[in-house]
Amino acid sequence: MLIIGGSGLVGSTLISYAVSDFSLYATVNKNEIQSDRVIVTKIDLLQERQKIADLISTLRPDIIVNTVAHDSVDLCETDHKIADLLHVEVLQDIAKVSKKTGSKLIHLSTDFVFEGSKEGKYTENDIPKPVNYYGNTKLLGENIVIEQSENNVVLRPAVIYGWHKKSRFTNWIIETLQAGKSVNPHADQCNTPTLVDDLCKAILKVIELGVSGLYNSTGKTCLSRYEFAQALADGFGLDKKLIKPVTSQEKKQLAPRPCRTCLDSTKLEKRTGFEFSDINTGISFIFNKSKQNS
Ligand SMILES: NC(=O)c1ccc[n+]([C@@H]2O[C@H](COP(=O)([O-])OP(=O)(O)OC[C@H]3O[C@@H](n4cnc5c(N)ncnc54)[C@H](OP(=O)(O)O)[C@@H]3O)[C@@H](O)[C@H]2O)c1
Repeated sequence: MLIIGGSGLVGSTLISYAVSDFSLYATVNKNEIQSDRVIVTKIDLLQERQKIADLISTLRPDIIVNTVAHDSVDLCETDHKIADLLHVEVLQDIAKVSKKTGSKLIHLSTDFVFEGSKEGKYTENDIPKPVNYYGNTKLLGENIVIEQSENNVVLRPAVIYGWHKKSRFTNWIIETLQAGKSVNPHADQCNTPTLVDDLCKAILKVIELGVSGLYNSTGKTCLSRYEFAQALADGFGLDKKLIKPVTSQEKKQLAPRPCRTCLDSTKLEKRTGFEFSDINTGISFIFNKSKQNS
């Protein structure tokens, strides 16, 4: 298995779950991988695009998991070139060469492909309509991967979290509250946060069962960032009074955000037999992990 982006939140967690069953290869950019059981290649896909096609042609992996994306939705709004390259053009190269080598490509997309105006949860039958440039390029990426081969897979997680240095939202809330300071998460942006460990277990099920196609792949609970912060405070025994809700009008972000992109992952759950956690189960999981690591 080749993990493109093995040093990220999903990539590094997937390594920890897959290392005993796969011969693992991974790419990194600025960060490192802490395992000597993975063969690592350093590639900056913005600067050395050809290297990834060469690597895939040489390795001919059975499975490729692509986790690479730019981590700033706001930067993508102003720097279209980066988003175009990383989410579309490089992905085109990866999809083309993986078809030639017969590799199954598993690609990660996002809930931000949706407009966010639906009351209930979005299913795979709903028509995407992104509201920002990040979402636009991620949607183009979905189509590239699905059109290239019927064996390929696109998974759509949302707000991925775990006990991990790259779990940005949960780390921001937990560290700020632990420091006794106040936090101001948005109360008008709702989604279905995804425990990274669940996502990685689902990816392994997808591989094991030969699943293909497009699937939502998120946690079960639809809630706002403010409610997520409150649930984290409860789970970690922190002071909820320090959490002050704000609206998108009050705390502006550069790229527009969809209001409510909660996803229904029943299709993937039924296909794999794997069930995603609800928010309280996910938070207790990361709380227990934090205790093991302290
Ligand atoms: N995180 C979320 O909340 C979230 C929500 C919905 C969807 N997703 C999707 O899920 C996927 C994985 O997210 P994640 O949270 O695991 O991302 P992440 O932690 O930011 O990891 C991204 C990976 O991509 C690599 N990368 C970034 N820029 C690169 C470049 N120019 N050249 C080569 N590699 C580069 C990073 O390498 P280095 O670390 O070595 O620089 C890292 O390995 C992404 O496709 C994202 O769109 C994420």
